[in-house]
Amino acid sequence: MKPRITIRAFGVFAVASLAVTAFAQGPASRPSRTGGGNISFASATLPKSETEKKILAVLEEMNQNQRRGSMSVPYGDGRILRVLVESLGAKHVVEIGTSIGYSAIWFSLALQKTGGKLTTFEIDAGRAAKARANLKRAGVESLVTLVEGDAHEEVKKLKEPIDLLFLDADKEGYLDYLNKLLPLVRPGGLVVAHNMDQRMADPRYVKAITSNPELETLFLNMETSGIGVSLKKR
Ligand SMILES: C[S@@+](CC[C@H](N)C(=O)[O-])C[C@H]1O[C@@H](n2cnc3c(N)ncnc32)[C@H](O)[C@@H]1O
Repeated sequence: MKPRITIRAFGVFAVASLAVTAFAQGPASRPSRTGGGNISFASATLPKSETEKKILAVLEEMNQNQRRGSMSVPYGDGRILRVLVESLGAKHVVEIGTSIGYSAIWFSLALQKTGGKLTTFEIDAGRAAKARANLKRAGVESLVTLVEGDAHEEVKKLKEPIDLLFLDADKEGYLDYLNKLLPLVRPGGLVVAHNMDQRMADPRYVKAITSNPELETLFLNMETSGIGVSLKKR
């Protein structure tokens, strides 16, 4: 996968390029074919503390039993999100599209270290209820504000600077979310967009993040989903 090789060696993207070899589906050890004929090395998230162990156990249970219909990010993508947030030292992460809270818990794994918080938006009441229950089981509910409603309207109420904005809801809405929230993303912050592949990505969003000289945009192509990472330049 050529783009990974060309990732510039600066902080966050360097760790992201390492994390991109994380497995897409789960922590079981197996080699990963990453393109270009190369077999990547295997790695899995190892708990450093009892707190991490508890959070990872909930993520594993969700991965095994709650994935169906949840549209949650794959395991490997969750690991990338955690690495990005922790390496940024993020104090405020905003997520559009909570679903049942899988990626929110990956963010929380990082935020309990950085002293940060997550604001996440979900339009579906049933999924939001499941997310609340999962966040509680992981013991991270105090780090997360879950806003129920249409994010296109609700995000207008946000006022605080954002270190990392994660877009993972209605794909045709990404451009609107970008237009509304990029002004709040701090210089040096990131806009991360999920499902950046030819089939799912909205070309208007792709154009917006690849033609704005204020942004440095990379596409990390995973086994099952693409991630667009746009750095808001200082
Ligand atoms: C792909 S899922 C999110 C998965 C989640 N980020 C994870 O990986 O665990 C997308 C979610 O966005 C929600 N959604 C779609 N349109 C929305 C909107 N306008 N406002 C808020 N949430 C929305 C859907 O209900 C769905 O639960």
